[in-house]
Amino acid sequence: MPELYKNYIGGKWVEGRSGKTFENRSPANYHDLIGIFPASGSEDVDCAVSAAREAFLRWRLVPAPKRGEILFRAGEFLRRRKEEIARAMTREMGKILKETRGDVQEGIDTAFYTGGEGRRLFGETTPSELPDKFAMSVRAPIGVCGLITPWNFPMAIPTWKLFPALLCGNTVVLKPASDTPHTAVKLFEILEEAGLPPGVANLVHGTGRETGNALVRHRDARLISFTGSTEVGREIAATCGQGLKRVSLEMGGKNGQIVLADADLNLALEGALWGAFGTTGQRCTATSRLLLHRDIKKEFTEMLIERAEKLKIGDGQNPGVEMGPLINEAARRKVERYVGVAKEEGARLLTGGENYAEKKSADGWFYRPTIFDQVTPNMRIAQEEIFGPVLVILEIGSFEEAIEILNGTPYGLSSSIYTQDVTCAFRAMRDIEAGITYINGPTIGAEVHLPFGGVKESGNGHREAGTTVYDIFSEWKAVFVDYSGKLQKAQIDIE
Ligand code: UN1
Repeated sequence: MPELYKNYIGGKWVEGRSGKTFENRSPANYHDLIGIFPASGSEDVDCAVSAAREAFLRWRLVPAPKRGEILFRAGEFLRRRKEEIARAMTREMGKILKETRGDVQEGIDTAFYTGGEGRRLFGETTPSELPDKFAMSVRAPIGVCGLITPWNFPMAIPTWKLFPALLCGNTVVLKPASDTPHTAVKLFEILEEAGLPPGVANLVHGTGRETGNALVRHRDARLISFTGSTEVGREIAATCGQGLKRVSLEMGGKNGQIVLADADLNLALEGALWGAFGTTGQRCTATSRLLLHRDIKKEFTEMLIERAEKLKIGDGQNPGVEMGPLINEAARRKVERYVGVAKEEGARLLTGGENYAEKKSADGWFYRPTIFDQVTPNMRIAQEEIFGPVLVILEIGSFEEAIEILNGTPYGLSSSIYTQDVTCAFRAMRDIEAGITYINGPTIGAEVHLPFGGVKESGNGHREAGTTVYDIFSEWKAVFVDYSGKLQKAQIDIE
């Protein structure tokens, strides 16, 4: 019998009220049923938001260093359970064990980084323009935050949102992706064990369409933080706009890696392979465009094909495997569709372009690393996010042309340039339109103490992680203390 999992509301594991459920199966083997989860409806969301609202009355008054201590404990438990969680995550999400270990590590790093912020969370003190008057700014919590997270980083991304939200004194309702609910259960077990009071963090499982939507529309969810596609983000932003809610969005990308003629080609090759095929290309920071200088294009392309064809595909739980499956059938169909579009547009398939179904992996959503050449900047495969192991090669003749092509998509999340020329490196840092730029590194590899997010259609002006995340999860309040004993008027009393 598969295990029946529950929601976590008001400090208790509870069954879904809707009575509906969904299955969670391994993407590497769809016969492997991980568990049954509640497909929560608006009633469940309502209960979770009410619990969070009630808990907010007390949680906001807990001193921030104390809130931080709970996060330190959560980090410690995550560290202890790292291997077990990573294994469960690979089974559930498909990426290889090394990567799921990294995903848990990102959660651990976030716990410790955020826990420490409990003793900072600085505001400013500043002179007043009036005598005997004191002025300062402080951060205040917002209230109930609705967090909607994707399946590609089932631990890291929920912790990026949850921990800073809690540290600031908010209470939360998390709706994790329906492809990776099991990892969220583990995270909540840890929060409970770490001593988080009931109602402060609540978990509701279900689909984006139903559960996510109910959360976004809930009057008492004062902030929505979403990571996922630009298409869904746009809808969420419109709904939040109507409700005048704060909304932070982290969305798609069409990230490019530039390789100039003077680059260290071996280094650039390792970067391209990891950037394009790590996590089976299912990162919003994945490299999906390779901009190669014409002088090295032929040589580099040959090197790339040789290595891409050797990547070992399979169940990420097995040692030696370098690339796991796609997340589900719909994801593989999307990749297949884009491969068709690329061919119709006249791009040339260099390798891949088909499902990978060797005996042992016939029952998972595997796809071969795929590379297209003769791609022009305006083709759909050079403009639209595919979220799979598909890389397109664009030829460039100069640094200027590279930047123009790199910037020529609606997205602006991550970017990379390989060059030995310090002038080009600094110009790239200045001229690339993206939230993240790597010099001589791949487009993936964000660290939790730096701002994470994108420009243009990759985001809506917010940055997670770093110190910037606190601007998402808190309100600024200006405070004036007048100890003059008389009425003083700003601007007016000044001679
Ligand atoms: C994402 O792609 O959704 O920099 C997040 C990285 C990871 C986080 C990526 N640390 O690729």
